[in-house]
Amino acid sequence: MRVLLAGGAGYVGAHTAIALIEAGHEAVLLDDLTNTSGLVTERIARITGGRAPLVAGSAAHVDDVERAFAEHGPFDSIMHFAAKKAVGESVEKPLDYYANNLDTTYALLRVGIANGIRSFIFSSTGTVYSDPADLPFTEEATRNLVDLSNPYSKSKLMNEVVLADVQKVNPGLNITLLRYFNPVGAHESGLVGEDPKGTPNNLMPFVARVAVGALPEVGIFGDDYDTPDGTGQRDYIHVVDLAEGHVAALEKAQPGLAAYNLGTGIPVSVRELVASFERAVGHELPKSVKPRRAGDLAATYCDPSKAEHELGWKATRTLDDMTRDVWNWQQKNPGGYEG
Ligand code: WQD
Repeated sequence: MRVLLAGGAGYVGAHTAIALIEAGHEAVLLDDLTNTSGLVTERIARITGGRAPLVAGSAAHVDDVERAFAEHGPFDSIMHFAAKKAVGESVEKPLDYYANNLDTTYALLRVGIANGIRSFIFSSTGTVYSDPADLPFTEEATRNLVDLSNPYSKSKLMNEVVLADVQKVNPGLNITLLRYFNPVGAHESGLVGEDPKGTPNNLMPFVARVAVGALPEVGIFGDDYDTPDGTGQRDYIHVVDLAEGHVAALEKAQPGLAAYNLGTGIPVSVRELVASFERAVGHELPKSVKPRRAGDLAATYCDPSKAEHELGWKATRTLDDMTRDVWNWQQKNPGGYEG
């Protein structure tokens, strides 16, 4: 099948393009390149021997989306990765987050439906679940907008509401909501990986920068949580497992609305992730305990069994696979794609 990947030159998009091509599908990337490098397309070609044409443009602009269809259509499916996703930044810039994360969806839906796509696969998030009492989160866990702590998560839940209503009036369309937990890792080749601009907000890329000496030490944001070692727990999933989950969702897509958690179901603490990274680099890393970060939960992780039963997909890569692959990417690209 031929898929338009909105935001497809980004971290998850690029890995998904690789998985699609390796599964025999065609991938076309639409990306405004505000948060990634156009060099990704060359790296995808080196890995797959295939092409993933890049259309430079914004998924929020109907005319750019129409240009992608005109130049590379028709498409069987749209995969929508084009969103701002930094939780802390969203608190400071709510309008940017609501506007971008909804306008992209509106434009993609309008053009995609007008051009007869069969499926629309949406990058959602495990942060739409609002009640820690529901852990481990199934797809039916509570999702109360007013209880979410930040505009990023709220914009994703608002997207889910829009998508559900649009699907009701397009009964032949499949809309799949893929609720990611914490994507980390990099392709085993070390040719593509996570390349955040500036100082990383997220733990894994931050630790990677400390390991290459670009940052002085790892700050552990609180060690007094109600968890086994006192540090925050998350459900980290290897980005290649995540990408393969998108291929499974595409190939199993049926008319209707469906939601799936894409995670491992295994809570991993900050200290456990750092220890795994130290095993990858072969020595200890400088670290110290800092105050808790505002808005952080003690723990979040999922029950991933629905995706296994219905999509035939299960994450297989371990924490040590994740840190090994990040270290390999970071060593080969100490300054990221442009470095
Ligand atoms: C993980 C843990 C921190 C940095 C991310 C994305 C968000 C969403 C979910 C997709 C927490 C601790 C962090 C550091 C630390 N992705 N930490 N020192 O907050 O779960 O959110 O995944 O929807 O877009 O931002 O991930 O990596 O920031 O934090 O101790 O320097 O690491 O307290 O316990 P988070 P994170």
